[in-house]
Amino acid sequence: MLGGKHILLGITGGIAAYKTTFLVRLLIKAGAQVKIVMTQSAGSFVSPLTLSTLSKNPVLLDFVNEEDGSISWNNHVELGLWADLMLIAPATANTLSKMANGVCDNLLLATYLSAKCPVYFAPAMDLDMYQHPSTKASLEKLESFGNKMIPAESGELASGLHGEGRMAEPENIVQFIEEDLAQGLPLTGKKVLITAGPTHEAIDPVRFLGNRSSGTMGFELAKKAAGLGAKVVLVSGPTHLDATHSSIDLIRVTSAQEMYDACQKHYADTDVAICAAAVADYRPKHAAKEKLKKKDGDLNIELERNPDILFSLGEKKTHQFLVGFALETENELENAKGKLQRKNLDGIVLNSLKDEGAGFGRDTNKITFIDKNLKIKTFGLKTKPEVASDIWEEIISRIHA
Ligand code: C5P
Repeated sequence: MLGGKHILLGITGGIAAYKTTFLVRLLIKAGAQVKIVMTQSAGSFVSPLTLSTLSKNPVLLDFVNEEDGSISWNNHVELGLWADLMLIAPATANTLSKMANGVCDNLLLATYLSAKCPVYFAPAMDLDMYQHPSTKASLEKLESFGNKMIPAESGELASGLHGEGRMAEPENIVQFIEEDLAQGLPLTGKKVLITAGPTHEAIDPVRFLGNRSSGTMGFELAKKAAGLGAKVVLVSGPTHLDATHSSIDLIRVTSAQEMYDACQKHYADTDVAICAAAVADYRPKHAAKEKLKKKDGDLNIELERNPDILFSLGEKKTHQFLVGFALETENELENAKGKLQRKNLDGIVLNSLKDEGAGFGRDTNKITFIDKNLKIKTFGLKTKPEVASDIWEEIISRIHA
């Protein structure tokens, strides 16, 4: 949910500020980019240098920077526009009150007023301050602006008192934001199964039959699905690509048989399955246990058919929306339609090898989407992330129809 998101973290001056070091680590681990704005008093509780090191970005404390004899301006408007979301944690009673009343006497507050993105805040204060009608009024006012409160937790407070007012634990803050972002996304609650990459079919312990698929299309489809709220099982053949999104369960396999087994295991409760892998149709009938020695004359390797994963998923289909890929060189539309029907698919993505810039090992692709009613939509040459968006748009419009 947070993968690739730009998060602007505002830290104000409460003892809970020390916990923001863990918070930043968690946000970065979830794949976010983090920039930090602190109030001057927050700097007394946690070191800007620590936070700058963890976030890999300079930490901003003031409107003006004076460094090495030069003066520069920290642009709060630009920061506000950079952010996909702003999180103010800890949010002290003082800052909450200022936010609620449009006070703008530091960089953090100016950035808050400039931010057009969703704003989350995690109050942190002593229990009596938290209960005070003035604090309650600030919280209500901020929620009426659409800002989202991550409620304080109960427990021991720095004052020695016990009660409500502790800043939510960093793990809970991250979970709150992730769950909130997931709400209302088109694939929230859906399980998606995607195959990607090539397969390698062993000839002997060091050699294999394979193909040039990079896996990019399948990985982009997986990333996009996760961003749209799905839980994704990505079954990939050998590739250098990685998937860091917390909603993607990456299962690495080598051969078609392993890919088949992984898909069977995950298919029953899948809502949408997309087979984007370039699966080898054949494998050596007998993979040698030892490395094959070179001999005079030719070598014949007997091949046998691999299981057709997509076909098997089409046979077992109950409620799943099933999508395949077709890479064709001639009679493209007719062949793709044939495949769609033979494999009992709900949609097929056709790449024509005749299209310049499309297909294997490239950053771009040009596709045609055909659904089971043979409705056809052709797209222009696009980057693979864009193509992934188009494919998901086609699928989502049909599963929500
Ligand atoms: O029949 P053809 O191999 O052209 O179909 C391509 C589609 O079938 C792709 O979606 C590919 O991922 C899938 N496929 C498969 N298992 C195979 C061969 C192809 O899932 N053994």
